[in-house]
Amino acid sequence: MLDWTDRHCRYFHRLMSRHAQLYTEMVTTGAILHGKGDYLAFSPEEHPLVLQLGGSDPAALARCAVLAEQRGYDELNLNVGCPSDRVQNGMFGACLMAEPALVAECVAAMKAEVAIPVTVKTRIGIDEQDSYGFLCTLVERLIEAGTDSLIVHARKAWLKGLSPRENREIPPLDYERVYRLKRDYPGLTIAINGGIKSLDEARVHLEHLDGVMLGREVYQNPYLLAEVDAALFNDGREVPSRHQVIRNLLPYIERELGRGTYLGNITRHTLGIFQGLPGARAWRRHLSENAHRPGAGTEVVEAALAKVPEAVVDYS
Ligand SMILES: Cc1cc2nc3c(=O)[nH]c(=O)nc-3n(C[C@H](O)[C@H](O)[C@H](O)COP(=O)(O)O)c2cc1C
Repeated sequence: MLDWTDRHCRYFHRLMSRHAQLYTEMVTTGAILHGKGDYLAFSPEEHPLVLQLGGSDPAALARCAVLAEQRGYDELNLNVGCPSDRVQNGMFGACLMAEPALVAECVAAMKAEVAIPVTVKTRIGIDEQDSYGFLCTLVERLIEAGTDSLIVHARKAWLKGLSPRENREIPPLDYERVYRLKRDYPGLTIAINGGIKSLDEARVHLEHLDGVMLGREVYQNPYLLAEVDAALFNDGREVPSRHQVIRNLLPYIERELGRGTYLGNITRHTLGIFQGLPGARAWRRHLSENAHRPGAGTEVVEAALAKVPEAVVDYS
């Protein structure tokens, strides 16, 4: 998620689930091919990891796909759902829903160059083009192009007049439309996204579909991930407590500080881990007030952790 997630966030999330698929925020082909930074950097611990690409030039996407595969990404995902103006000017994101032939060409160009799966994330419609038939036209082109799976954010986007934030809240969710898509295209792997806040809700969707993607809820309440392996992947390995997750993050923080990363860029992702528990506010506050100070290190995290009562687990 642009501006929210990054590789530090994914490293932290991976400490709570081994199996959940993690996605990068959207990275544009322009940034990868012409940017100054290394936009493809990640830690090996983040696997299984999907790179989400933003772009609409088949040749540029194919080039990025090759680079990503060489770097070890497990999958590529093309963004056909982001409605921001910035993205529309670059002719990618949700506005591509109106260009099914071009999207198909993009997917086919990437598929021709790499062996890893190429998937697409889309909405159910844009502007006045929100009929079920409109969505099916895109899906059929994607199937012909060899798309390995589809993630559908179950609401349309208004390209003019709504901010990206409003476009995640105002257009109503229509889960039934995504279920119908799966019924009509049973051979296509389809995951659903949008407004899902718990694993119980995820289970209901999984009765109809192949996968579930959670965005905001996981970011704000990351310990939700700790239940995922047992609840959805049948992996009953013991899950670390919240305190243990933070302790497990400390060596990574040390390593990153040594490479010049600023503490707050890592700890900002952890603010919600104690959500709803005694001490949650003291945790957030201590980090917010101290992680930005020059020279701040793991002692700041340890001091914040000491403010949160550690639950005593009684196994008797
Ligand atoms: C701050 C923010 C940034 C986002 N950036 C991306 C992005 O880079 N790529 C993408 O496919 N979706 C992005 N999204 C949309 C989410 O992936 C997701 O589709 C949307 O929030 C609905 O799912 P949710 O209710 O589980 O959050 C972003 C959402 C937020 C809140």
